[in-house]
Amino acid sequence: MRRFALGVAVLMLLALPLVAKARVSGPCSDCHTMHNSQNGAEVFPGGPYRALTKGDCIGCHTGVNDGSNNIPYVLSDSEPTYNFDGTKNTLAGGNFYWVKNGDDTAGHNVASLNNTDDNLNAPPGFNSNDYQANGAIGTDWSTNTLSCAGTYGCHGTHNTTDDFAAIYGAHHADDSTIDGSTVGKSFRFLYGIKGTEDDDWEYTVSSSDHNGYYASDYQTTGTIDSASINYLCAECHGNFHLHSEIDDSTTGAPWLRHPTDYDMNNVKNKEYGNYPNASLYNSVSNTGDYFPDVPVGTTDGSVKSQVLQASGDAIVLCISCHRAHGSPYADMLRWDYSSCTAGSQNANCGCFACHTSK
Ligand code: HEC
Ligand code: HEC
Ligand code: HEC
Ligand code: HEC
Ligand code: HEC
Repeated sequence: MRRFALGVAVLMLLALPLVAKARVSGPCSDCHTMHNSQNGAEVFPGGPYRALTKGDCIGCHTGVNDGSNNIPYVLSDSEPTYNFDGTKNTLAGGNFYWVKNGDDTAGHNVASLNNTDDNLNAPPGFNSNDYQANGAIGTDWSTNTLSCAGTYGCHGTHNTTDDFAAIYGAHHADDSTIDGSTVGKSFRFLYGIKGTEDDDWEYTVSSSDHNGYYASDYQTTGTIDSASINYLCAECHGNFHLHSEIDDSTTGAPWLRHPTDYDMNNVKNKEYGNYPNASLYNSVSNTGDYFPDVPVGTTDGSVKSQVLQASGDAIVLCISCHRAHGSPYADMLRWDYSSCTAGSQNANCGCFACHTSK
């Protein structure tokens, strides 16, 4: 069995070198225990877990990213390194460390962190009608808490409250094509969402080494695309998206909510044409360089090292400003918003990557 798995892995490596890391590999016993019992005693406390795994989602996904781990770690027991426009050992979604250890506003308080949000339980801006194309999120937020996956979660399908049932089979699925058709073939198991998966989840990152976020240019198409990474956020925070592609008078600026699914090529002649404000930040050198700490999306979800080259390649995202799992900062922002002051541009604030003349 193991030799067979290895053979398959080698074949995959030969055929598609970049894909090898995206789907689980290694001995079954690294991740599975058949009965969670050895000499009559429990092997993994709290188990047995679903799919005969050695832990729940958070259990397996806790650790310190060092570039050699083949499980992406999203929670760390010690404080991760996180410098905006600088070194980090967190991945693209950020880390749940800060929300678990003190600051409820620093991330999504998913149930298995055992630290519910003191102020919020329902998602701010929740809209249960307009964003159901990938399956409806549950509406009873008074008795349910946000979870990793399922009806009240981000990953997997939304038709079951069981995290494992919601992603069943995804870890072993062939994800060489990310078309949103199944959980395994969706960007990071976010059902229905498209994009390009960086093979180390942005542990190493630069203008040319990063995820490709699929988004839409609502201004041009007039339709809400359910495969957009912004749509994922809108499944729970719909009202923050509803008035963000375009305002009620359909004229764009002045805006009612910060735009998303909005292509900066539409306003390239204004300050936005100078993204990412290369002279201000360390990790970018030229106008148009993709700035992974203030990312933008594309209408084909591809990885671009230079943006503002053609329409549809520089779309504002919810995650241009937020980290999906969490960050050291309030509102899980990518940078410290309190360092953002008009008239005194500084590299600690990411707003200036697009608002290059404020
Ligand atoms: C690196 C971790 C890892 C390794 C190694 C691994 N698995 Fe899994 N497997 C998982 C996880 C996580 C799940 C549950 C989540 C899911 O279904 O995607 C799972 C689910 C499954 C399932 C149920 C879902 C499905 O895809 O059918 C089966 C069966 C399974 N594994 C068999 C195996 C066998 C057999 C081996 C060894 C040849 C193996 N696994 C090796 C992580 C692993
Ligand atoms: C037994 C350990 C184990 C458990 C339990 C587990 N995972 Fe994973 N997970 C892995 C490994 C190993 C990978 C890396 C391989 C891969 O990308 O599929 C991974 C990858 C992922 C990824 C990234 C996929 C990608 O495209 O790179 C997501 C998202 C994820 N897991 C979510 C979950 C969720 C949600 C649960 C709980 C329902 C869960 N995992 C449970 C081991 C585990
Ligand atoms: C499955 C539902 C769901 C999805 C999808 C979702 N969120 Fe949330 N979000 C919540 C809930 C519930 C809360 C309130 C509880 C909490 O803070 O954890 C919340 C809170 C927040 C907060 C405020 C944090 C605080 O505590 O002050 C921000 C910011 C946020 N979400 C951004 C996002 C972004 C960006 C995305 C897309 C990457 C997203 N959310 C996707 C459910 C969701
Ligand atoms: C990824 C690029 C990007 C980032 C990062 C960004 N913005 Fe924007 N912002 C835009 C675009 C594009 C517009 C719409 C411009 C237009 O319609 O002329 C906009 C519009 C606005 C508006 C409304 C202007 C109007 O005409 O109604 C305000 C206010 C604003 N942004 C503030 C901020 C603040 C504060 C931050 C940091 C927290 C920020 N933005 C970060 C791209 C960005
Ligand atoms: C331009 C940067 C930027 C973009 C883009 C952006 N946000 Fe925010 N978000 C913020 C800031 C800054 C705050 C802090 C509160 C405020 O200024 O409104 C915030 C606050 C939030 C909150 C917390 C609200 C509360 O009541 O505590 C949620 C939820 C949220 N954002 C979700 C989203 C979603 C979903 C999207 C995409 C549709 C999005 N954000 C796009 C910057 C942004």
